Amino acid sequence: MHRATAIAHPNIAFIKYWGHADAALHVPANPSISMVLDCLQTRTTVDFRVLRKDEVIIDGITASPAARTRVSEHLDRVRALAGSDLRARVRSESNFAVGAGLASSASAFAALTLAATTALGLDLPLQQLSALARLGSGSACRSIPGGFVEWMVHPDRSATARSIAPPEHWALCDCIALVSTRHKKVSSIRGHEAAPSSPLHTARVRDATLQAPACRQAIERRNLAALGRIAERDAVMMHAVAMTSAPPIYYWTAETMRVVRAVIEWREAGLPVYYTIDAGPNIHCLCEAAHRDEVQRRLASLPGVEQVLVACPGGGAQLADDHVS
Ligand code: PMV
Repeated sequence: MHRATAIAHPNIAFIKYWGHADAALHVPANPSISMVLDCLQTRTTVDFRVLRKDEVIIDGITASPAARTRVSEHLDRVRALAGSDLRARVRSESNFAVGAGLASSASAFAALTLAATTALGLDLPLQQLSALARLGSGSACRSIPGGFVEWMVHPDRSATARSIAPPEHWALCDCIALVSTRHKKVSSIRGHEAAPSSPLHTARVRDATLQAPACRQAIERRNLAALGRIAERDAVMMHAVAMTSAPPIYYWTAETMRVVRAVIEWREAGLPVYYTIDAGPNIHCLCEAAHRDEVQRRLASLPGVEQVLVACPGGGAQLADDHVS
């Protein structure tokens, strides 16, 4: 039987990956630090058999040719490692909107990598699994380990992701204000490519690299104010780079800005909450567990907010209990 099922969660970055040092190998221009999001998940079954070509079903629908090619190219990497030429039937389901800036490619490629390698009998160490997932989608390498994860760039231009604290280290919450669940128009792949064309890119990469140790320390000390300041600044800088790239990319909408302003007002009035935004219009609001219900309630009452998802630190990619059934 060449079949396995794996589950992985997306992650939210406090210092973002935006632009490459090596595009082909998805080596990022700067180190990044993130948290795995427990209640959002992708569950993927890979079933290798004698087929003419790979078949990919995402959330019950046959994948577009572009998505199928991306999955097939990733399976090719796994086939090359395992010395197999079997094709696969891939079924992937996420319990959240795919392609809306909620890092669905991170959970998707983390789950795909673990399921496909297991199905072909490979038992890769965590570092190798993470490095392989990265080739599918850069940020997927941060969804293989659990909890709070740092993706480091080494002097020899290699890059590895490792857990810096387990999920139970800190009851930090991400209250995600969904202002749109439509598929984003410009993929992060295009964003990474365009980043160096922005005159702000070099400054952001330098700043993100300098801030990484402070970000790690803020997590180690469970210091929300320090973490929040770093996360907000890097998110704004990432989007400033995107907006000043050629061609410019605008992920924010009027609703995004309305939520950002509300978060800043609430904080000034004493509620400890900070925001960050990925490659989409939705706003991730960071707070501690004690303030989660209040933040969720306030976000839900804002005009333009369709839904609020709440996630806590989650574990790394795992095989499903029934993974070979
Ligand atoms: O892994 P990609 O290519 O989808 O890029 C992720 C980009 C951001 O989500 C915006 C930032 C990050 O570090 O997760």
